[in-house]
Amino acid sequence: MPLTLTRPELIRSANFISGAWTTTPTARLAVTDPATGDVITHVPDSGAAEARAALDAAHAAFPAWRKLPARQRAAIIKRWNDLVLQHQDDLGKLISREQGKPLAEGRGEVAYAASYIEWFGEEATRVNGEIIPAPMPGRRMFALKEPVGVVAAITPWNFPAAMIARKIAPALAAGCTVVCKPAEDTPLTSLALVLLAQEAGVPAGVLNIVTASREKTPEVVDVWLDDGRVRKITFTGSTPVGKHLARRSADTLKKLSLELGGNAPFIVFDDADVDAAVEGFMAAKFRNGGQTCVCPNRVFVQRGVFDAFAHKLAARVAALTVGPASNPASQIGPMINDRAVEKIERHVRDAIAKGAKVLTGGQRLPELGPTYFAPTVLTGADPTMACACEETFGPVAPLTVFDDETAVIQAANDTPFGLAAYFYSRDVRRIWRVAEQLETGIVGINEGAISSEAAPFGGVKESGYGREGSTHGLDDYLHTKYVCQGQLD
Ligand code: SIN
Repeated sequence: MPLTLTRPELIRSANFISGAWTTTPTARLAVTDPATGDVITHVPDSGAAEARAALDAAHAAFPAWRKLPARQRAAIIKRWNDLVLQHQDDLGKLISREQGKPLAEGRGEVAYAASYIEWFGEEATRVNGEIIPAPMPGRRMFALKEPVGVVAAITPWNFPAAMIARKIAPALAAGCTVVCKPAEDTPLTSLALVLLAQEAGVPAGVLNIVTASREKTPEVVDVWLDDGRVRKITFTGSTPVGKHLARRSADTLKKLSLELGGNAPFIVFDDADVDAAVEGFMAAKFRNGGQTCVCPNRVFVQRGVFDAFAHKLAARVAALTVGPASNPASQIGPMINDRAVEKIERHVRDAIAKGAKVLTGGQRLPELGPTYFAPTVLTGADPTMACACEETFGPVAPLTVFDDETAVIQAANDTPFGLAAYFYSRDVRRIWRVAEQLETGIVGINEGAISSEAAPFGGVKESGYGREGSTHGLDDYLHTKYVCQGQLD
């Protein structure tokens, strides 16, 4: 089915460097619909030359952009937000087509992305420093906040609009310039967002984007890693890649924000409202078909409510409608690619081989296409299973029964990852006890939908560092300069 937009020119097939759309190199990368494998369009398969040109442009544009009064930068970012919202339908269609999420979720992601752009447009005018009371006479001491410089943003495929928005909007608000490499699976949404940023008045060179295949991406990123003019890398993706970026950034000591893999526990205590826990779990787990870093990956349910929770959950999950984004009834779309479905299938097979039982789902849905997997609930999950140790990144809920609060906290923390955790309880003392002991950057208590532009999103341990959203998300693009003036007595 052709992709029909109200503004067809939002479908870009070029890099954007120094304020111009450029189709070099001639090598092309096919962008496909994950539901069918059909080619939507082609974009440049860029390499070192394009990465360098983008960086040269961002470096040249930095002095003027950082000097622009914050209110003028804010006005441009706010115009960008308005344009994104005006094009919500088109952008939602673009997201759904290249990423596979149902159309309602695609439109929802546009609103979510815009919330970050609006937030950071507002925050741009509130980058305050400090006046420090000098501990000796005749001096004045100040802490100034300054933009870090050129930022390289490397963004994932699961939220092609929101992840770009929450990296680029704070960078622009802080006065940084940007080079961006979007995920190879979903470059079209990012290119459309950059077109709207251009229309909003972002000056030439301030925001540059180059597309590249999985094979060529290291060539692009290596240019940025090696060059001392890039002062910050912001990345959302896997922990192994995050570690690689951290190692390679060491030579030029770049600032880093790394939003990496998760292995979120979801704990339901005996004193929980079971219906609320089921609803919270549905919201947390099945958003984007289970392809989010904060999706619950391990589900611990206390013995007293285990049967009630498991059966209510299985009924809700079995009723989910799986299908292509083009069907308005779809609630779960295709997975992003073959590798993703293979991993999900491997996790489910491994769990079953080690004794897990399938309450619902458990297999691919070949009648829909090669990238569909049935939403699945398993019982009898244990820590030896791959689904307990690795992020499944798909619509699979492995349930484990537990008896003891201390033991379940230990089990929840028994992972190198620490992005999000969730639990349901109505005991206020337990709520604080558990929240304080969970080793994660984010905790949802009696709530499954935790993400917000006003909140600091990010992890601890091997889930990375840095925060996105909130005032912390702006601070990550600033450094502090101490200024001391003497001879004032
Ligand atoms: C992610 O999966 O990386 C982001 C999810 C969110 O923003 O809620």
